[in-house]
Amino acid sequence: MRILVTGGAGFIGSHLIRRLLASAQHQVVNLDALCYSGNLTNLDTISREPGYAFVHGDICDGSLVSSVLRTYRVEGIINCAAETHVDRSILDPGSFARTDVVGTGVLLEESRHAGVKRFLQVSTDEVYGTVESGLSTEEDRVEPRSPYSASKAGADLLVLSYWTTYQFPVVVTRGSNTYGSHQYPEKFIPLFVTNAIDDQLLPLYGDGRYRRDWLAVEDHCAGIELAFFHGKPGAVYNIGGGNERENIAVAEEILSYLGKPKSLLRFVVDRPGHDRRYAVDNGKLRRLGWRPVVSFEEGLRATIQWYREHESWWRPIKSGEFRKYYEQMYGKRLQQAG
Ligand code: DAU
Repeated sequence: MRILVTGGAGFIGSHLIRRLLASAQHQVVNLDALCYSGNLTNLDTISREPGYAFVHGDICDGSLVSSVLRTYRVEGIINCAAETHVDRSILDPGSFARTDVVGTGVLLEESRHAGVKRFLQVSTDEVYGTVESGLSTEEDRVEPRSPYSASKAGADLLVLSYWTTYQFPVVVTRGSNTYGSHQYPEKFIPLFVTNAIDDQLLPLYGDGRYRRDWLAVEDHCAGIELAFFHGKPGAVYNIGGGNERENIAVAEEILSYLGKPKSLLRFVVDRPGHDRRYAVDNGKLRRLGWRPVVSFEEGLRATIQWYREHESWWRPIKSGEFRKYYEQMYGKRLQQAG
């Protein structure tokens, strides 16, 4: 199939492209705006493959999207392009509404007119909002609570409306907290791993007892691929790793693997509106044939090892614009924490 992956220079997008090309059955066009977290070196190993093409551009640009769809005779779209970091959505909600909602709307409209046969929206378990107990199923109401999750929920509803209204064959996947190599170090695991390598403090929000369900990026991409090719049009599929952990437990595991002291941990002022827990029921995707294969302990260790061995990947990121962001997000909090 000729597949357009948007946001393919990002974390999940780049893993997904490598996976699709590995099967040698597909051609992939990557449309990416190369914003702060996009990095073409993530695709170094496949960038010269004949089945791969890169286009630099924004999903909000309708005429560009239309021209890409026609030039490459795109048959299917997997939309990974998004602003994804909750903390940044609190600083700048508008950019999330623009890329995540408006951008998805542009993609949908252009692809419907171009006769695309399949559209998969990569979404998040955060759209269900905080879940104090039990598991969220695909039938649950969306109750997003951050500008990020509200933007993703808006996009999900728009995508699903294209099935109801136009019978445009869409599928939505809602993944849980994903980790692995090549993840931009603003997210919890890569931030804590790279800080710990440098003997810097690890800022735990609130009491550190917030819970997330961790999913290896390889398992996430396998789920996306399966849902894309075999999911029911108009359906939503949760992709949850089944590895629920408290943040403090993950932080301690990172420190222990790196042989660093627990004194690097700092409890800092909480994220506003911080969702206590996410946990999804992944039974629907399992019934389609998916199951996670990477254990959290193995996956976390492999991820830590990757960051240890790829300092040339993350050091330039952390020394650039990131410093300003870090200071704004953590400077005062860490000072207060003493
Ligand atoms: O659940 C899926 C979602 O997981 C994805 O849709 C999002 O794109 C992704 O960012 C992630 O959202 P979270 O807000 O859960 O991820 P984050 O890595 O920012 O934080 C994970 C947990 O760690 C959360 O409870 C907040 C906490 N945390 C995070 C950071 C960055 C800290 O305690 N300190 C930190 O410095």
